[in-house]
Amino acid sequence: MSDNNINNNKLSSGRFTEATDAFVEQFTASIMFDKRMYKQDIQGSVAHAKMLVKANILSSVELDKIITGLTQIKAEIESGKFKWSIQQEDIHMNIEVRLTEIIGITGKKLHTGRSRNDQVATDIRLYLRDEIDQILPAMQHLQAGILSLAEKEHATIMPGFTHLQTAQPVTFGHHMMAWFAMINRDIERLIDCRKRVNTMPLGSAALAGTTYPIDRQLTAELLGFERISDNSLDGVSDRDFAIEFNAFAAIFMMHFSRFAEELVLWSSAQFKFIDLPDRFCTGSSIMPQKKNPDVPELVRGKTGRVYGHLISLLTLMKSQPLAYNKDNQEDKEPLFDTIDTIKGSLRAFGDMIPSIMVNKENTYNAAKRGFSTATDLADYLVNKGLAFRDAHEIVGLAVAHGIKTEQDLAEMALATLQSFSKDIGEDVYKVLTLEGSVNARDHLGGTAPKQVLAAIKRAKKSL
Ligand code: ARG
Repeated sequence: MSDNNINNNKLSSGRFTEATDAFVEQFTASIMFDKRMYKQDIQGSVAHAKMLVKANILSSVELDKIITGLTQIKAEIESGKFKWSIQQEDIHMNIEVRLTEIIGITGKKLHTGRSRNDQVATDIRLYLRDEIDQILPAMQHLQAGILSLAEKEHATIMPGFTHLQTAQPVTFGHHMMAWFAMINRDIERLIDCRKRVNTMPLGSAALAGTTYPIDRQLTAELLGFERISDNSLDGVSDRDFAIEFNAFAAIFMMHFSRFAEELVLWSSAQFKFIDLPDRFCTGSSIMPQKKNPDVPELVRGKTGRVYGHLISLLTLMKSQPLAYNKDNQEDKEPLFDTIDTIKGSLRAFGDMIPSIMVNKENTYNAAKRGFSTATDLADYLVNKGLAFRDAHEIVGLAVAHGIKTEQDLAEMALATLQSFSKDIGEDVYKVLTLEGSVNARDHLGGTAPKQVLAAIKRAKKSL
């Protein structure tokens, strides 16, 4: 066999006496989806080769050749000229075989002291780390959009709901800051997950480590890994870091679906709280009046696939004996799709949220309907010396009267209110107004506009 001769059908030509079945080749290949890790695969190979020079396993002349070859390959891939081959199964073999075509026998030396098992585990971690580093700023961008809307609408009054029934008035800005807080925890989860993603399995080789005098510390430094995996069997086989990322993603999408649902409701003709910018909506092919909130609906719907991927990954890893199993190749598609879904949803919402228009008059009027200041009246009576349960009863009677006569508490004459309790005085109207109600909730975490502004200020500092 000449130096450049590569068996195109089998990874280790010596072992086999028959070629792989064409369907099996297709069935077992991962190149269709793992090629998106080409950059990380090359990055890992360069670091590995540099380490091999330090360990006197490769010469610096050989290193130069390898780097030149890999640089050319990267350019070929990025210009669309690279010929992907199913026969070469995956990204690792596609690149290695091409490298050997370009630089000859030195290309075959690159794999010294490593295995595709630690190579792929390293690639996924590098890939996921890069993606996390794009997702985190996108999450902060969304938060910034939420903040700008919160600031604009910090004093805008809307009904707050429990059971989707009008409960108490809140400020729109306060509602936005609830979303902000949810994303804050999601960001914390992702930052924490990144620590474990950023662990280097390279050096685990196939499963037991390698006989070569490798310097894992050096490779880790070259690749920016903060930690090195402690155990080679674990290093090549576990994918808990991907599961963890997907768990973060599932929780984040759950939050996202809640924002999405509210936007869908609020933009409906029944609520009319907000208008979504036209560029984020579509029409109907038959009903000319329609403006559909497709973007929030899709984000809400996409939550399902991310949950599904979490279950896929958990089930993929369940009961797998140590160490690497081919099952693990199935980790990539769910993980990649989760990443794409998160990024797409973030991009759509990041652009849309700050341009939402709030119909202040409608939110105000909605808060006026539904006796949203009933609790305030009860609190008022408590302040006049009544027990809360008695106050609750009195206000219930007043509300029943309001329903019958179609008037809000604030619209009732003083004499009417006094017919329910003689403790009610002229000063009651201050607490029955929506403004009075929200302003009275003036403590850390409360809905008063003043508190919303303070929360925004704290949030801006944290961004
Ligand atoms: N394509 C494989 C994967 O994604 C790479 C590792 C293959 N290793 C092996 N021994 N078959 O997991």
